[in-house]
Amino acid sequence: MKISIIGAGSVRFALQLIGDIAQSEELYDCDICLMDINETRLNAIYSLANKYCLELNSNLKIEKTTNLDEAIKAADFIINTAYPYPEGLEDGYQRWEIVTEIGEKHGYYRGIDSQEFDMVSTYSYIICSYPDIKLALEIAKKMEEMAPSAWLMQTANPVFEITQIVKELTQSKIVGFCHGSSGVNEIFRRLNLNINLVEWQVAGVNHGIWLNKFNYNGQNGYKLLDKWIEEKSHFWESQGPWDVQLSPAAIDLYKFYGMMPIGDTVRNGSWKYNYNLETKKRWYGKFGGIDNEVERPKFHQTLRNSRKRMIELSKAIEKDPHIKLMEVWPEVFKKSETSGEQHIPFINALINDKSTRLILNVENKGIIQGIPEDIVVEVPVIVDKNGLHPQTLNPNLNSRIIEYFLGPKIMRMRMALEAYITGDLMILEEFLVRDPRTKSSQQIKDVLDEIMNLSFNQEIRDHFKYYQD
Ligand code: NAI
Ligand code: MN
Repeated sequence: MKISIIGAGSVRFALQLIGDIAQSEELYDCDICLMDINETRLNAIYSLANKYCLELNSNLKIEKTTNLDEAIKAADFIINTAYPYPEGLEDGYQRWEIVTEIGEKHGYYRGIDSQEFDMVSTYSYIICSYPDIKLALEIAKKMEEMAPSAWLMQTANPVFEITQIVKELTQSKIVGFCHGSSGVNEIFRRLNLNINLVEWQVAGVNHGIWLNKFNYNGQNGYKLLDKWIEEKSHFWESQGPWDVQLSPAAIDLYKFYGMMPIGDTVRNGSWKYNYNLETKKRWYGKFGGIDNEVERPKFHQTLRNSRKRMIELSKAIEKDPHIKLMEVWPEVFKKSETSGEQHIPFINALINDKSTRLILNVENKGIIQGIPEDIVVEVPVIVDKNGLHPQTLNPNLNSRIIEYFLGPKIMRMRMALEAYITGDLMILEEFLVRDPRTKSSQQIKDVLDEIMNLSFNQEIRDHFKYYQD
């Protein structure tokens, strides 16, 4: 069996996934193929991965390549974690930073891609996601020929848009992954619940999921949550920029929609939480969440520092093979616990019938009643050797969530994909026409002019036949 990781040079996925594989005894003899276009990162991850396996007493066969075809050929599972970036830049985050800065200059706080119901802002809509959609489609098209029965496990964002378009335009099997649903654990932890006694479900679309079912030991869990809100919520303080699961914004969303928003959904409320940093702090706690001008740059810096450390460490182990990765960097090289990512449990369920319930992005086909059958939704799915079996939702999402929240999100996904497919510039403009930060048509023209004229946006400029007069 062959598992390929595209974009393997990321500090966030490849090593963690290899750790998970090495700790799954049933997967002892699978081949791993690491693929990245950046050779320095690829080489570093490759030697660290091998060393890590040694420390875990595992003899996985690991290959590396910069050639996409080689990674796809005869693979059974292809995990796409790549974040494309233009030549000359450091990473995809830098591209986003440049585009966001231009947006801010023209009056679009946090950039034109940050939209109402979508502040998960490094990866929304078309201007920033064009290369990511293009790469995923390229992978899926190649899979039709070279690995027709493989699963594409889409992890790179935007998961919603990409899973949808790959399903529509190719024959390849795709399933979208996000760990956002683990936000439920934060609720159970703060309410002091024994996790084994909780029965729960979440449903929606990626970065827009809601706790539709919540029972505790046979009782209605929402009663316990209401009690916590009444007695304890005003003592809540955010422990870090990502810790917003029980923030005032989350509770306000719960009051309006009648179900609790989970994970990144909390970042995706309406403008009222997001006008400026001060507003964000009121709703998301003292850091103002992650989607702001103070925390976002710090986060990107942390990722870049880790990447640097990873490269240095790979050089260090070449000189001194006695270094123990699990001792010098235990947060990445875990000893005996798995990463919490759903990828390897998914593979193990399909291949070795280790049946398990995961939260995955799959075609709706009636799972969420009230939204179209062909939309990709994020829902609980039982995975076993016979395939993927979505659970029946009990209860279904309520009508406010379906109409007022999922409705606009689905519409924007449609607009983004139509813009990607047709190159119709008017769709890009329409996003901004509907944006309350827009004050005039001139503003739309000015901001698009400047973004389109970035040298690395040449291809997008051609796609949208965008010429300045
Ligand atoms: P990163 O920039 O650290 O790593 C991405 C890697 O992709 C880099 O090593 C880069 O060289 C490589 N790459 C770029 N273009 C490539 C190409 N054409 N072919 C192969 N490799 C290529 O980014 P990071 O932080 O690892 O994020 C990666 C993606 O995962 C992003 O889209 C991010 O939004 C997403 N993400 C998804 C999560 C989820 O739960 N689904 C959680 C966190 C991040
Ligand atoms: Mn996500």
